[in-house]
Amino acid sequence: MSALPLHQGLAIVMVGLPARGKTYIARKLCRYLSWLGHRAKVFNVGNYRRQRYGDHVPPSFFDPNNEEAWRQRRAVAGAALDDLIQWCEEGGQIGIYDATNSTRERRAYVRGRCEAAGLRVLFIETVCDDPAVIDVNIRETKLSAPDYRDTDPDEATRDFRERLRHYERAYEPLSDDTQSFIKVIDVGRQVVANRIVGHLAGRIVNYVMHLHPTPRPIWLTRHGESEANTRGLIGGDSPLSAAGEQYANSLRTFIADQDVETLHVWSSTLQRTMQTAETLGRGFMAIKALDEIASGVCDNMSYDAIRETMPREFAARQRDKLRYRYPRGESYEDVIRRLDPLLIEVERHREPLLIIAHQAVLRCLYAYLADEPRERCPFLPVPLHTVIELTPRAYGCDELRTELAPGSRAAPSS
Ligand code: F6P
Repeated sequence: MSALPLHQGLAIVMVGLPARGKTYIARKLCRYLSWLGHRAKVFNVGNYRRQRYGDHVPPSFFDPNNEEAWRQRRAVAGAALDDLIQWCEEGGQIGIYDATNSTRERRAYVRGRCEAAGLRVLFIETVCDDPAVIDVNIRETKLSAPDYRDTDPDEATRDFRERLRHYERAYEPLSDDTQSFIKVIDVGRQVVANRIVGHLAGRIVNYVMHLHPTPRPIWLTRHGESEANTRGLIGGDSPLSAAGEQYANSLRTFIADQDVETLHVWSSTLQRTMQTAETLGRGFMAIKALDEIASGVCDNMSYDAIRETMPREFAARQRDKLRYRYPRGESYEDVIRRLDPLLIEVERHREPLLIIAHQAVLRCLYAYLADEPRERCPFLPVPLHTVIELTPRAYGCDELRTELAPGSRAAPSS
């Protein structure tokens, strides 16, 4: 089983004034739900508008009294909604409708069409009146949007603020508590959840309420080389090899060289990660959810020995590495599911974080953070003795890889 089955498609309808983080939440949520195994997709009405009417339209296009523009805006909103509904009819599970949906009339239209197509509707409204937050949003997302690609930043800001004023005049906040909604106020300072029904909607509330845009580095590294690594054995709980100890020392220097005041260090509960973490000489937390994929009856075996003694198991894993579950062990899908609560903790964290874990577990975390498709998860390169620095940004993630002990042997990987 991938994610929990969805018996009915879900339309997540974003609501809010421009520059309130709707697209940020829509995209992240889509990434999270896809990582969990749902078929999710964002339908951004702005993209439809740009396709139909060009990258830049004047602020008057958003004037609520401009009847001609109002019809055009309604047409592009309808086209995006048509596509969302059609995509759900063709097997999509969660369509995220990213637009301002800032009037009651527009929301009633969207809700009516989704429900008529058999979709449940969950509104997510982002509310924020803090000028500093809005300024950052404008600078970090709007000025680099296609609308203002070749425009002088001051001119773009003026133009965008005029557009914003048009929206403000017409904006009607969500107030109808007969419908399902989540209101995120001031970047999660307050979250209101109304008529939230079911496991998935509950996960969405939990996810959304912990999001924040504070940039901070997240370092991912495997433990130093272990004795099992030197013998080509998977799993087990062996200590570090001499080269592994050397890596732990290099990691201590690397971390000491970083310009960070506070650093949280997490390891798994296995010897090789705890030994690596201990060498850093600071506190760390050993977390069971970070333990390596459980290889069950194959634990402590080499890939060659598995191929020889359990050829059918070996072939089954080759065929579908993401879903294959070791007898009495785990699959990559199982690992993703057990990492889910921890991932929310990663999102919640505002300070630099170092995670010392294992190949399969880090592949799963990396896939989410770097927005890699879930299917690629079991094949993502996470070599030994390499620190991967990830810094989440509004619409992506910066990445830097540092190999700390070039001469060291690579761990076996099937
Ligand atoms: O070889 C090191 C290791 O961490 C094993 O303990 C684990 O079973 C394996 O990597 C996971 O990688 P793969 O899914 O490619 O077998």
